[in-house]
Amino acid sequence: MSSLIRDDDGVSNTSANDHLHDLIEREIARNPSRRNMLKSGAALGLLGIFGSALTACGGSSAPAAGSIGFKAVATSSGDAIVVPEGYTADVMYRWGDPITATASAFKGDASETWREQEVQSGDNHDGINFFPFPGTDGNSRGILAMNHEYINPEYFHNVANFNKPEIPDNTKKQVAGHGVSVIEVQRNAAGKWEYVKNSTYNRRITGYTPMTLTGPAAGHDLLKTAADATGTEVLGTLNNCGAGQTPWGTFITCEENFNGYFGTDAAGWTPDTLQNRYGLAAAGFGYGWHKGDPRFDLAVNPNEPNRFGWVVEIDPYSPTSKPKKRTALGRFKHENAECVLSKTNKAVVYTGCDERNEYLYKFVSTGTYDAANKASGANLLDAGILYVARFDAGTVVGDNQGTGAWLPLVHGQNGLTAENGFANQAEVLIKARQAADRVGATMMDRPEWVAANRTKPGEVFLACTNNNRRGSAATPSSNNVNGSTTAGSARPALDEANPRAVNNWGHVIRINEMGADAAALTFNWDIFVIAGNPALEGTKKGSSNIDASNTFNSPDGIQVDPEGRLWIQTDGQYSNTGDYVNQGNNQMLVADTTTKKITRFLVGPAGCEVTGVCWTPDGRTMFINIQHPGEVGSHPNAPAAYKSATDKDAWINANPTAFSKWPDGSSAGRPRSGTVVIRKNDGGVIGT
Ligand code: FEO
Ligand code: CA
Ligand code: CA
Repeated sequence: MSSLIRDDDGVSNTSANDHLHDLIEREIARNPSRRNMLKSGAALGLLGIFGSALTACGGSSAPAAGSIGFKAVATSSGDAIVVPEGYTADVMYRWGDPITATASAFKGDASETWREQEVQSGDNHDGINFFPFPGTDGNSRGILAMNHEYINPEYFHNVANFNKPEIPDNTKKQVAGHGVSVIEVQRNAAGKWEYVKNSTYNRRITGYTPMTLTGPAAGHDLLKTAADATGTEVLGTLNNCGAGQTPWGTFITCEENFNGYFGTDAAGWTPDTLQNRYGLAAAGFGYGWHKGDPRFDLAVNPNEPNRFGWVVEIDPYSPTSKPKKRTALGRFKHENAECVLSKTNKAVVYTGCDERNEYLYKFVSTGTYDAANKASGANLLDAGILYVARFDAGTVVGDNQGTGAWLPLVHGQNGLTAENGFANQAEVLIKARQAADRVGATMMDRPEWVAANRTKPGEVFLACTNNNRRGSAATPSSNNVNGSTTAGSARPALDEANPRAVNNWGHVIRINEMGADAAALTFNWDIFVIAGNPALEGTKKGSSNIDASNTFNSPDGIQVDPEGRLWIQTDGQYSNTGDYVNQGNNQMLVADTTTKKITRFLVGPAGCEVTGVCWTPDGRTMFINIQHPGEVGSHPNAPAAYKSATDKDAWINANPTAFSKWPDGSSAGRPRSGTVVIRKNDGGVIGT
């Protein structure tokens, strides 16, 4: 079992569709001056050229963004949260914190039972949204809904139960550590935010919580199992990565790397075409849940994985409501789900599929939302059209902007027919990845979060975190942190002249929907930033808005705040050497969307990922999540024994705080994922 059991780095797309970098390459070919510059070996790398020009043309039509006034923080490889002068960061809700008055407090030795874990905070906090109570300003009290993406087995069990999924209670405890927390939060008399331990709103949703499959695919044979002949009733949600919030006040949580929980020991089992395209494999990601619960055994319950990979809608205001898996939004590895209204008040949900060479999707509802009638949103996500993005390289404004089209994934159109394996719309949605392959969508460098700028309708950002599976050469890459792949061989063609064939640092794309309407069928795009490292050479430096003060790699969580600032969180390498020298721990930065200037705001503790961000309506309280502090032994501060241990997982299981003691600071405890509250000491808007 790997200490990095989660695998964001697999690849299952073996289609021949265009890769975005193919298009960038064609754009260069289209523009002779750029090709000549490239071929002459000009000092600037290709992407530096792109970056300069993009900066020059990017701001003319952009809105006035919120001001950014703090002093940037330096990188750090320490084991603490770093925020700018004049700001305070307080830890509020950690893995294992009890959500009811009677639940047991976190014990610190991982001896909790699965029943105890069910009423404590889950692990690996991720996407998070704030829900004010109706009729209040929401600036000092509300509800937080947040994801618990996965668990770290090495911290999650004591030595006696480590790596023993065949003991059913151990598997149950892991399943119970996943899912969602809904907690009431308030600012107390001392001005500190706290969660309300005995609130009736508090709720844990886990991998065992009953929920309903709704929409066009509900009830399809591929969703039926021995335990559920209806194909509509499913237990739980898993690998909830990013999330979103609807205008009618629900939390939409995303099932990402669900494939990793399934496996089998059955001799001779091999994946079928559908399973292969979704990365299902006998070994899974090594969790071994099939040993403790046959629901996760691919040979016993081959359709159970089809009941995961959806967007799940949860009403945080209704603690007894049953979550709904909305099949109209398609089945894939959803990163987050960014929901806005179109010009005619249709619900539009942007959602990326995070794997190398996968796609960006959006859903547009058939019905419309009436803000005066909250109930009009109730089933809006059950009927509509799912689209997938094709990025084209056409001149729009300046040389480096392209156009794009949203391609409908509708049965009977564009080859999505029975003879091509799609018997009906349900199958188009269950096999959304294959449907996207067929209509000619553009392969992307791992689509992570999508963030809409609500101060500028139609403007949407997409984080492409990194990619080491492009180009013709089998180039090894350090961003492939655990070396595993799923289906493995897809490599969209690349010219060697493209200096970011191995995109270790990632980039952020900006989309402007045509007519500033989220429901538009076409869009313009430009690259907002190409991350990189000024300490390196050529294209590795990134675009011109990257310098020594803001260098970073692997943008992942992104959100636009209420005043229009773009916040960027990273889930990348933190060895602080080689490609990542001077970049330190994972971090959070903020960008002015008019000037593209990027400033580092926060650095996380050792081994963590910074992910998930939301605000109170006044923008004066920011909630972020820190996940998996203490993970990965490549960190420069990791003890030598950890780095060199032949079985790192067993070693860290026996020495859980050797690498990080965040947030409790106790050698006797465990590193714990947690929600952090950030305030400006003068009470001002965060970022000013
Ligand atoms: Fe769960 Fe793609 O990050
Ligand atoms: Ca992520
Ligand atoms: Ca990531």
